[in-house]
Amino acid sequence: MTFFLKKIIIDICKELNIKYKFISDEYITILEKNKKIVYLNEYLFGLNSEVSSLLCDDKYAMYEVLKEFNIPVIEYKLIWHPGNTKEDINNKINEIEKYYKEHHNHLVIKPNLGNSGINVYQIKNEKEIESIFKDLLSKTNSICINPFYNIKNEYRVLMLNNEVRFIYKKELTNSWQFNLSKGSLAVKEIDDELKNKIIDLAMKTNNILKTKFVTIDIIEDINNNLYVLEVNSRVTMAKYIEQHKEDYEVVKNIYKDAIEELFKDN
Ligand SMILES: Nc1ncnc2c1ncn2[C@@H]1O[C@H](COP(=O)(O)OP(=O)(O)O)[C@@H](O)[C@H]1O
Ligand SMILES: [Mg+2]
Repeated sequence: MTFFLKKIIIDICKELNIKYKFISDEYITILEKNKKIVYLNEYLFGLNSEVSSLLCDDKYAMYEVLKEFNIPVIEYKLIWHPGNTKEDINNKINEIEKYYKEHHNHLVIKPNLGNSGINVYQIKNEKEIESIFKDLLSKTNSICINPFYNIKNEYRVLMLNNEVRFIYKKELTNSWQFNLSKGSLAVKEIDDELKNKIIDLAMKTNNILKTKFVTIDIIEDINNNLYVLEVNSRVTMAKYIEQHKEDYEVVKNIYKDAIEELFKDN
């Protein structure tokens, strides 16, 4: 468990008079108040239904559901692990090469169930397809590919109970990836008109996926189009707080509301 999450849970429990215990190498937190017990699994709070949660974390499923309801989302193609015969692997490589050529010889390839920008590669040279694909196959069972989008900025929207509770912009520094873990900057100032469009897209996405506590990442491309990039059912704000310690209380209050929600009778 990150230092951030542990501190936030302890602070909230003290404020709300909740008994807490970290077990299972601190993956699991047991919370108890007025004889009611709830569990947290690291950043999984259990406010989303199991299916909604899986819909978010499975990038390809998220894409297909949003596309079904005409929400602008970046294009995804799923590549299942092909088994180990040379022929099966070569067929998949041919499929990726075809997609590469159809999308201006520029792709992004990543684990379907990934996070934090780990093992996310850009492919600009056809010769790299085979080695990157084989490397990913050794790490994961399902891989997805996208056309490369020329992203101007990325935005993270945190939603709780159908309300936008936090929004910030990610700006690139050294890497081509906008993950804060890759060094991007978290910026709070966003033009009002643009912010409203981002909020509108996030609310629609949240509504379609039937989620209650998520972050939604939205990209703005160089032609000012907005698309959903990914949705995470684990609401992680640790990297944001590293850059903006002044927002600790605001962010803590969001997690506090989430925990209070868990203790409501239902
Ligand atoms: N199709 C794409 N075109 C351009 N950049 C992309 C594309 N897909 C991902 N990226 C960049 O890589 C980062 C990580 O990709 P993402 O799909 O969010 O995976 P993860 O779950 O690992 O964060 C994104 O924040 C974005 O900056
Ligand atoms: Mg991401």
